[in-house]
Amino acid sequence: MSIYGEYKPTLELILNDLMTRINQMNSDYQQAHEQSLFEHLNGRIKTEKSMEAKCKKKNLPLTPHSALRENRDAIGLRIVCNFVDDIYTCIDLIEQMPDVTVVKKKDYITNAKPNGYRSYHMILSKKVDQIDVDGNIPGEYYVEIQLRTIAMDTWAALEHEIKYKHHIKNPEMIGRELKRVSDELASCDISMQTIRQLIKEDN
Ligand code: GTP
Ligand code: MG
Repeated sequence: MSIYGEYKPTLELILNDLMTRINQMNSDYQQAHEQSLFEHLNGRIKTEKSMEAKCKKKNLPLTPHSALRENRDAIGLRIVCNFVDDIYTCIDLIEQMPDVTVVKKKDYITNAKPNGYRSYHMILSKKVDQIDVDGNIPGEYYVEIQLRTIAMDTWAALEHEIKYKHHIKNPEMIGRELKRVSDELASCDISMQTIRQLIKEDN
């Protein structure tokens, strides 16, 4: 039996619905502003295997309740923007969605993690017609949204690759270098945004 139990189809439904609406949000924005709000959108249901591993690590029983209540990232979306400004515009638009409540925000853009990780994380609670793991109808499900620029996404992907796939002999030096690169990329993000602003003022 899946750790998501009978709720698995509802997770797929929520993911598809949110992806469709966020893509529509981008199209609408493009129509109105002649520039896109984000570069791309990814979405996934956390694999049963990695959800089980996460529950085991937290000493939780392998139940739908652990997967959907003790953890809040079974449904995950990632919005990758061209510019830092656009991230905050996306956040505003997401907060306006009628069936969605923001239950937690972590701004690792203003306050990067000590290792240099930058992103904006939101946990949403989404209302659906279907039953949830507590037996409520309408049900409530958690969704994690990560928002980043292309530069932040590049850094996170490479850091993840290095951290998980290689044995590191000199972790202090590698950590220091990754942090340095993160700061350089953050500075590039600010410069790119300034360039966009300069172009806008010229027009
Ligand atoms: P979990 O959701 O249990 O992982 O813990 P949390 O909610 O305390 O974590 P947080 O919201 O800070 O981060 C959750 C997700 O953000 C992770 O699953 C990663 O996708 C991403 N993330 C966080 N920190 C890092 C990091 O240092 N490097 C990379 N590459 N990704 C990170
Ligand atoms: Mg999390």
